[in-house]
Amino acid sequence: MWMPVCGLSRLISQTIVCARVTGVDLILVWTEGHAVACERLCPHEQADLALGHLSGRRLFCPRHAASFDLRKGTISHGWPSRPLRIYPTRIDDGQVWIDATAVNSPAI
Ligand code: FES
Repeated sequence: MWMPVCGLSRLISQTIVCARVTGVDLILVWTEGHAVACERLCPHEQADLALGHLSGRRLFCPRHAASFDLRKGTISHGWPSRPLRIYPTRIDDGQVWIDATAVNSPAI
């Protein structure tokens, strides 16, 4: 089930926007012309990734030095944590939509 979560113009102007989809906290990130949705808490020690910073398609955690590839969620080399969960998005009618079914499915 697809849900609209944020206006596209708002995401472009703010770069990182917090959202809550069916009880799950996540963030939307605008990077290199793409909208990416991912979990909000860092898989390492649950820092708030909404406070992180972007470099290209990498999102850097605000607490430690780990970063995540926003295409696949992979964490930077040497960290013992699982990848960041990435959720499907699409842009339609000036809105960013998220696949809420994927948000609620168990992590693989
Ligand atoms: S809490 Fe994010 S890298 Fe440690």
